[in-house]
Amino acid sequence: MNSKTGLFLIIAVGVIISFFWINKEKERLEAPKLEAPKLETKVKDAASAQPAPGKTAETSAAAVIALAPAPVTPTPDRGKKVFMKKCKICHTWGQNDKHKIGPNLWGVAGAGLGAKAGYRYSKPFKNAKGAWDGQTLDAFIANPRKFIKGTKMVFRGLKKAADRAAVIAFLRTLKEQGAGK
Ligand code: HEC
Repeated sequence: MNSKTGLFLIIAVGVIISFFWINKEKERLEAPKLEAPKLETKVKDAASAQPAPGKTAETSAAAVIALAPAPVTPTPDRGKKVFMKKCKICHTWGQNDKHKIGPNLWGVAGAGLGAKAGYRYSKPFKNAKGAWDGQTLDAFIANPRKFIKGTKMVFRGLKKAADRAAVIAFLRTLKEQGAGK
């Protein structure tokens, strides 16, 4: 083959390759987005992303704040609302209230597991050791049957950490004014 045919071949191959490449790019750009990316992913990305050259770390932090959902302050008031919706069917909370399906929860924060007088706990609960602090309450309320296998508290659990924190803040108010914990 002479040099002219060689040159022609090279150009022809080049044209074919760029044709396919352009088509692919077009497909990529036109492809519909199947699902909006999850907010968590965005927040995580924004948090872990290195600031782009020219942009400062402050810009990234601002992006994280802008993307994060408005924080819910886990106040006892909010916790009481959650309690009324989710726990009240089975639990009383006043100092001298009777037990219901579940034990009365006055003073439960800081008390031992299954320690309420006059309530018939399930066997796994009676055998459970430890005390109710922020951590144990959180784990239990998140998933009661995982925290104490065989508990008779038939409740799926509060999935939102903010709801659990609020309920725990409310439980902590169930004590004599001025008492410890
Ligand atoms: C369907 C009824 C039911 C619901 C709803 C329920 N509980 Fe209970 N709860 C129980 C029962 C029953 C027990 C006793 C478990 C056992 O003996 O196995 C219990 C036990 C507890 C205990 C341990 C008390 C102790 O003396 O150790 C805590 C704390 C508690 N529940 C908090 C909650 C909170 C907070 C909610 C709402 C988010 C809730 N429960 C919703 C039935 C319920």
